[in-house]
Amino acid sequence: QLETEATIASKQGEAVKRFPTTLIIGVRKAGTRALLAILRLHPQVKSCGPEVHFFDQRYPRGLQWYLDQTPDVRAGQQTIEKTPSYFVVKGVPERILEYSKSINKSLKFLVIFRDPTVRAVSDYVQLNLGVQTKYHRALKPFEQMVIKNNSALKIDTSWGVIKTGVYAKHLERWLRYFPREWFHFVSGEELVNNPFQEIKRVERFLEIKPYFRKANFVFNEKKGFPCFRGAAKKNERCLGKTKGRAHPTVDPRILSELRRYYRPFNEQLYKMTDRNFQWP
Ligand code: A3P
Repeated sequence: QLETEATIASKQGEAVKRFPTTLIIGVRKAGTRALLAILRLHPQVKSCGPEVHFFDQRYPRGLQWYLDQTPDVRAGQQTIEKTPSYFVVKGVPERILEYSKSINKSLKFLVIFRDPTVRAVSDYVQLNLGVQTKYHRALKPFEQMVIKNNSALKIDTSWGVIKTGVYAKHLERWLRYFPREWFHFVSGEELVNNPFQEIKRVERFLEIKPYFRKANFVFNEKKGFPCFRGAAKKNERCLGKTKGRAHPTVDPRILSELRRYYRPFNEQLYKMTDRNFQWP
């Protein structure tokens, strides 16, 4: 009923709230914010405000609440929601399946991946800052967090930061519920090194008009990352200082152990996604 009213209004040219049809479901610390910030430059893309966490944390609030979190869109525009924890939280695909049955018969999922070893360090940096802000103390160094009881370089694979990087296992779960064609996989590395080409692939997947040009991306030496320039603004916009943070130097033996652990899962992911992300 909510959607029927919206459809009538939008046919009349009014801007109305519409349920998200595209979800950026993860992966945390792989470049999800950058992906959304770029897509938002496109005139046919509108997004919800901050991470909505509907399907993992706020589901009991109901669909009307979810709709309330969406922006007004006009005909031809689509609503994107990004909550990176969706990718790893159990029960989320099941809820989204229900949602797709009742609200949107077809959905599009964007998943951005980044070398899981580097992603783990990034996640650690983020956690550490959270602990510092909240409890005024620091976490143990990454090396101590990631190794089981100081044993001979045995990775603690039960640590959430490590589990998140076993992408193939998470994706396997999602593919039990949704067809492969509903997913598009973005390379976090390419979004930094080659943002124009990477976003053109996303544009095609979303079936929106070709809009992006090379000029939308300007590498910012100071930031060390691409910044973005929309049609209206002359100056480019960089992501804030919580994105693109310095990582600690990690013992190379730990890094190679982590890489060894992730390698078979990465190989599995390359097959599942038909894309070789070429992580070392
Ligand atoms: P670091 O801060 O560890 O470098 P998310 O938005 O999912 O939390 O991901 C954050 C990561 O996005 C950053 O991790 C950074 O590497 C990456 N990133 C990708 N493109 C970026 C950009 N244009 N500006 C800043 N960070 C970017």
